[in-house]
Amino acid sequence: MPSPLADPVKLPCGLVLPNRLSKAAMAELMSKSNQPNDTLLDAYEKWSQGGWGSILTGNVQVDVNHMGSPFDPALHTEYTGTDTTLLSTWKKYASACQKHGTPAIVQICHPGRQSFRVAGKRGMFAPTIAPSAVPINIGDGLMEKVIACVTWSNPREMTRGDIERVIRQFVDTARLMADAGFSGVELHGAHGYLLDQFLNSKTNHRTDEYGGTPEKRARFVLDILTEIRKAVPPTFAIGIKLNSADHSSSTFEETMTQIALLVSAGLDFLEISGGTYEDPQMMGYPNTSPQAQGTAKSARTAAREAFFLEFAHTVRERHPQLVLMLTGGFRTRAGAEAAINDGACDLVGIGRPAAVDPKFPLLLLDEEVPDEKAVLLLEKAPVPWYAKWLPRNLIGAGAESTYYAGQIQRLAKGLATYAPAL
Ligand SMILES: Cc1cc2nc3c(=O)[nH]c(=O)nc-3n(C[C@H](O)[C@H](O)[C@H](O)COP(=O)(O)O)c2cc1C
Repeated sequence: MPSPLADPVKLPCGLVLPNRLSKAAMAELMSKSNQPNDTLLDAYEKWSQGGWGSILTGNVQVDVNHMGSPFDPALHTEYTGTDTTLLSTWKKYASACQKHGTPAIVQICHPGRQSFRVAGKRGMFAPTIAPSAVPINIGDGLMEKVIACVTWSNPREMTRGDIERVIRQFVDTARLMADAGFSGVELHGAHGYLLDQFLNSKTNHRTDEYGGTPEKRARFVLDILTEIRKAVPPTFAIGIKLNSADHSSSTFEETMTQIALLVSAGLDFLEISGGTYEDPQMMGYPNTSPQAQGTAKSARTAAREAFFLEFAHTVRERHPQLVLMLTGGFRTRAGAEAAINDGACDLVGIGRPAAVDPKFPLLLLDEEVPDEKAVLLLEKAPVPWYAKWLPRNLIGAGAESTYYAGQIQRLAKGLATYAPAL
């Protein structure tokens, strides 16, 4: 019987994804000039041959002054539509991703307070920007405090001018991607980056129209979404990646309110993930410290493959028409099919396995391959011995990112890729 993973999915904008397997966004850390380059294109050519239903690029930063890493592609100046060299660079990237017919969606991002000191052209000692001046807290121990201080500068509260500028930067980046021929953009509203910082009451203490209630905290994201809609063709997809909130947490209903607002503003898809630098659940490394309340997985979710399954079910119940993508933990055909058959999601996002096997969908969709072989199980990435006195969850998640970015770089060079050794 054909797998339900092979079914196409049509987004509200009309874009058809040929199957339900999405290569999830993974920062490639390959762009020294902060522009798409040949190495990046080589990696995406590999994924373009992999039988994916959609390819989400690693995060592209909307402001070269505020980056997630020093090696992200980014928008360097305002996009006026007249810079033909810029456009042709991005067109090559779009063609490499979509060479074999898979739609590619660019993830666009502003890291806000999570921009490392060394990432971005603003200077090591310049503050980051954020809805409110809330510094990053990775733990209360002396070591954690020193690491946080060395890694991130303190944020300053964004002014109205900053807010208007960042909205423009998101719109400019989306317009550039549409002109370049990509099929859509995904706003990175998860993992503690700027949009997530606005949505979340822990990081948004504003008292103006961008803070104070769940609705007001969603306004920044809604403004970006609405302005992008006006600036791109109606057939261009706009999605968002958001963090889940645990059912038992006080923010659960607030998150549901914000999702309802985003859905009414017109979303093509919602991707569900979770975690931040302070609590990296997206990599399967929940913060188990007493400060991290309500973040541990329930027994039911733990028994399943996907990290954020229960939350996806609840969103599905409340928004049956919304195209839902669930990312985190999928390693087997059986697990991916169960999530689709249970109605938890429409699209299965796959990150780390895609860095090891760029053609993973061809295995999952091959009816000749039995379920027990349609798997790519991954051990945790190795953590260097000298890191054992550092915060375990943070270092573990950092080791995962470093390891798999390394595999993406090998992929680009045409070298063999490896799952972490036992
Ligand atoms: C090397 C690496 C880079 C990542 N970069 C991004 C990113 O740019 N944007 C994003 O939303 N998530 C990023 N993630 C998280 C993945 O999209 C995904 O949510 C996470 O890896 C869990 O999925 P998995 O268990 O299938 O790997 C990254 C993950 C890895 C391993």
